[in-house]
Amino acid sequence: MDKLIIRGGKQLKGEVSISGAKNAALPIMTSSILASGRSAFARIPDLMDVRTMGRLLSNMGASYSYNEGSATIDSASMNKFEAPYELVKTMRASVLVLCPLVARFGRAKVSLPGGCAIGARPINLHLMGLEKMGAKIRLESGYVIAKTSRLKGASIYLDTVTVTGTENLMMAAVLAKGTTILENAAREPEVIDLANCLISMGARINGAGESVIEIEGVDELKPLKNYAIIPDRIETGTFMSIAGITGGDLVLKDCRPEHLDAAMMKLKDTGVIFKETKRGLRVIGPKNLIAKDVKTIPYPGFPTDMQAQFMAMMTIAKGTSVIKETIFENRFMHVAELKRMGADISIDGGTAAIKGVEKLRGAPVMATDLRASASLVVAALRAEGETVIHRIYHLDRGYEKMDEKLKKVGADIERVKG
Ligand code: EPZ
Repeated sequence: MDKLIIRGGKQLKGEVSISGAKNAALPIMTSSILASGRSAFARIPDLMDVRTMGRLLSNMGASYSYNEGSATIDSASMNKFEAPYELVKTMRASVLVLCPLVARFGRAKVSLPGGCAIGARPINLHLMGLEKMGAKIRLESGYVIAKTSRLKGASIYLDTVTVTGTENLMMAAVLAKGTTILENAAREPEVIDLANCLISMGARINGAGESVIEIEGVDELKPLKNYAIIPDRIETGTFMSIAGITGGDLVLKDCRPEHLDAAMMKLKDTGVIFKETKRGLRVIGPKNLIAKDVKTIPYPGFPTDMQAQFMAMMTIAKGTSVIKETIFENRFMHVAELKRMGADISIDGGTAAIKGVEKLRGAPVMATDLRASASLVVAALRAEGETVIHRIYHLDRGYEKMDEKLKKVGADIERVKG
């Protein structure tokens, strides 16, 4: 397994190109199932999860090709409607094929995703919504088996704000007979991007990005010639944290700052400076960071996917920061590893208290999940001495060429193939 060796203490300077959003790419790739024919998508990042999704679609008979950021998917030849456990266990977002398969073919057999490092992450709300739309659902040896002649519109209240639940049910509704209302829907920019993609295929969707989304079903959707997805707001936020912790000066190109209002306001409070320039968003880290509290909540609040990176910054801030994680029940796996680097963190349930220390020291540490691994990179870029981050396949799932981008702005980092 590959590992990263980072020698910290450098002030990173230069330009970083932000890639397309992983969490927009995955649902938008599955939306190609809904429109028979060849769809093409641009700014698709070259990530492990994207490759896994490509394999999943190919296994179902679609033809998939990827080259330099553009993905082409021809769903006309699809002849299998199953997402096997072997693939789903490596990427829970595979569950996003469930509703497009039922909507287009009236059937699907998808492995239940099982738990993951950060929490139980059930899909009960995806299934509740699909049932309300008339699908017959049964669970059999770890698989969801869904069948219907044709889905029909329904009013669905989501008890918990769920991003992929909203996305899945939106994809179920676009080909249903009648109108569907999704209440308490997720408002993430990735939900809006999926809706815009579906609308370009001919879907009728109102309110994406709000808590109530109304979808009027149509009989058929048309494949897309070229749809460019949004940039990755969490990669953007991660590089903001890197500029913040290293006292660096980075220009983030091709990003959409408006997708990160809450995170940017919080970073500003810690002393990070932002300047819009013609080349992109300039982010300047202060000499000393000020400790601030954070609570993760659904969009447009502070994103849970930025919690670990923000915590890494707070380990060397002046004062004590209290971080409340309200979305996932086990998203503090990075804490033990940060403490190995000298951080002073105590946990009480979903709350962590981080007392700023003078400095972090490099150490061998282990990545446990995608954003935990990002937080170890953030901390290692500040730590004195050498940090070796093991199991960086977690990082490769969601960050495109992270080590190359960091090297370009002066980081002392190397990837060791293992
Ligand atoms: C999406 O996961 C993202 N993944 C996650 O990003 C992100 O952390 C999460 O949304 C929250 O923003 C993708 O978009 C591919 P949820 P998702 O359903 O949709 C509970 C990353 O780092 N819930 O919004 O799986 C669930 O347990 C990844 O890029 C139910 O109870 O998350 C959680 O507590 C990690 N029943 C809460 O809702 C359901 O049926 C939010 O989960 C569905 C969810």
